[in-house]
Amino acid sequence: MIRICFVCLGNICRSPMAEFIMKEKLREKNLEENFLIRSKGTSEEEEGNDLYYPAKKVLEEHKIPYSLHQASKLKREDLDNFDYFIGMDDSNIKRMKDILKDDSKIRKLLPYDIKDPWYTRDFETAYQDITKGINNLLENLK
Ligand code: 4NP
Repeated sequence: MIRICFVCLGNICRSPMAEFIMKEKLREKNLEENFLIRSKGTSEEEEGNDLYYPAKKVLEEHKIPYSLHQASKLKREDLDNFDYFIGMDDSNIKRMKDILKDDSKIRKLLPYDIKDPWYTRDFETAYQDITKGINNLLENLK
């Protein structure tokens, strides 16, 4: 079992999008049983909130199913529960290191930052970047 936690700032846009895209790719490959996929945020700002509406819309446009989501903040205690914590941008990575106090399991989804669609309002670009990162991740996990 490989346990992966995707991490962004608010846990209502990028990291839950990554969670649902990854789950769908694993379903297509019949690999879901071998993975545990979750997502968290580095801030408590959105705690308890569902996936942001424009993020739902872009997933629907690309036929990626999603379920009810409740945003939650990454905690130091999560360290033992996952094999990888995958951040979206350098600011996420810095805050993940502060929270987890250990960088051995921390990775970035792409070599460059996945811009926050909460600010850019460009959910399609975020979707494309996240999908590219997940395709790379699946290749590297082979
Ligand atoms: P995310 O986007 O990190 O991709 O979930 C954000 C969502 C909410 C906020 C910031 C970023 N916020 O400040 O509430």
